[in-house]
Amino acid sequence: MKITIVGTGYVGLVTGTCFAEVGIEVVCVDIDAKKIENLKNGISPIYEPGLDDMIARNFEKGRLHFSTELPSSVNDADVIFIAVGTPPDEDGSADLKYVLDVSKTIGRFIEKYTLVVTKSTVPVGTAKKVRQAIQEELNIRNAEIEFDVASNPEFLKEGDAINDFMKPDRIVVGVESGKAEEIMTRLYKPFTLNGHPVIFMDVPSAEMTKYAANSMLATKISFMNDIANVCEIVGADVNMVRKGIGSDSRIGTKFIYPGIGYGGSCFPKDVKALIKTADSVGYSMRILKAVEDVNDDQKSVLVNKFLNHFNGNVRGKTVGLWGLSFKPQTDDMREAPAIIIIEKLLAAGCKVKAYDPVAMHESKRKIGDSIVYSADPYEAIMDTDAQFLLTEWTEFRYPNWYVIKKLVKNPVVFDGRNIYDRKELEQLGFDYYCIGVNTGKK
Ligand SMILES: NC(=O)c1ccc[n+]([C@@H]2O[C@H](COP(=O)([O-])OP(=O)(O)OC[C@H]3O[C@@H](n4cnc5c(N)ncnc54)[C@H](O)[C@@H]3O)[C@@H](O)[C@H]2O)c1
Repeated sequence: MKITIVGTGYVGLVTGTCFAEVGIEVVCVDIDAKKIENLKNGISPIYEPGLDDMIARNFEKGRLHFSTELPSSVNDADVIFIAVGTPPDEDGSADLKYVLDVSKTIGRFIEKYTLVVTKSTVPVGTAKKVRQAIQEELNIRNAEIEFDVASNPEFLKEGDAINDFMKPDRIVVGVESGKAEEIMTRLYKPFTLNGHPVIFMDVPSAEMTKYAANSMLATKISFMNDIANVCEIVGADVNMVRKGIGSDSRIGTKFIYPGIGYGGSCFPKDVKALIKTADSVGYSMRILKAVEDVNDDQKSVLVNKFLNHFNGNVRGKTVGLWGLSFKPQTDDMREAPAIIIIEKLLAAGCKVKAYDPVAMHESKRKIGDSIVYSADPYEAIMDTDAQFLLTEWTEFRYPNWYVIKKLVKNPVVFDGRNIYDRKELEQLGFDYYCIGVNTGKK
């Protein structure tokens, strides 16, 4: 079977590489010529653990190809996955421009039966629009070519994407025909041999499943942040509360860590898009609107603690930041809380120094040289008035506080991920703030 993946980003590149890994011939197509050129030279556009080796291996074996030529890649494929971006439109709904552009090209160039699969996160009804866009182009060509459209939303997590793809909790596939179901069953067989299930359903349900999954996870995070904020006021410790509720198997331990708000390329835009979809059919998603509200406020929590600590007198202070990416193990800074925190610190007249193990190039691309980038974590906090932990990378988990105490101008730690030991830090003479614990400070 030959497959073409259109869009070679976080999802398309991982999907294409993992399919090639199990022996399928894959072409990854992108309009970004530089990205494709780099990939041909073994340079991956993203940081994803294990991906570089897998790309190199499959490229060398001749199973994984990279191209900017959509027409030739389309007419040769048995299955075409659409994995282009679906960024938020001005009103928050998913912008389907890229998905529909690709669909038109598919309609212009397919020569035989093709299964077209949307892997991008798209609202209910998109498969219908994809079908229509392809059919219109076929009509212009007077071509009678059979095709199917299926929905196969992706659930990979950046930072653990290969594992998620190779050993998925589940694969969700929405189909309209027995033929499409049979092809998708064959395609995913190598990934399901160990019992990982493919759940077949109708197309609208598959499209909705992705939004419901991300919205549920975002809800857990905002719920816990809300609980954390009340804990602080009433004198409870959210770390204890988290353990207490997480041991209930109905609740579970995952996604109940309080912090500085969710970010990334998916949760913020998918929550927005689902709210918009519901609004457009006259239904208000009250819970999700509150989830967004809590999340927006949560990105300010750490800066507010910092302002309070210095009684608002922060102009000219230097702040050292550890972590820029929206979570560990990725260089993705889309909607990262760090961006908002940096904006607020700069607006308050502070100087910002930062270190991140992999996201500094991405940060430079996004916010330029408005902050100072440091070569290592200790350099980033040298001579600082305050130290912020924003992303819980492993290398930040066990710092040498004795060294830090000597390096900083003023020892005060704002722990946005609750990973440090308050008692230890206070004994060493640090002021310590975290999320959801009343540390007795202002
Ligand atoms: N990033 C994630 O963790 C994740 C997880 C699950 C689902 N998704 C969804 O998958 C989709 C893709 O996300 P991503 O993070 O991989 O995006 P991305 O921005 O990393 O990649 C999209 C790629 O598509 C390319 N592209 C755009 N128009 C094109 C065209 N006409 N022809 C060929 N290539 C084109 C872009 O150049 C880019 O390289 C989105 O809908 C997203 O919501 C993302």
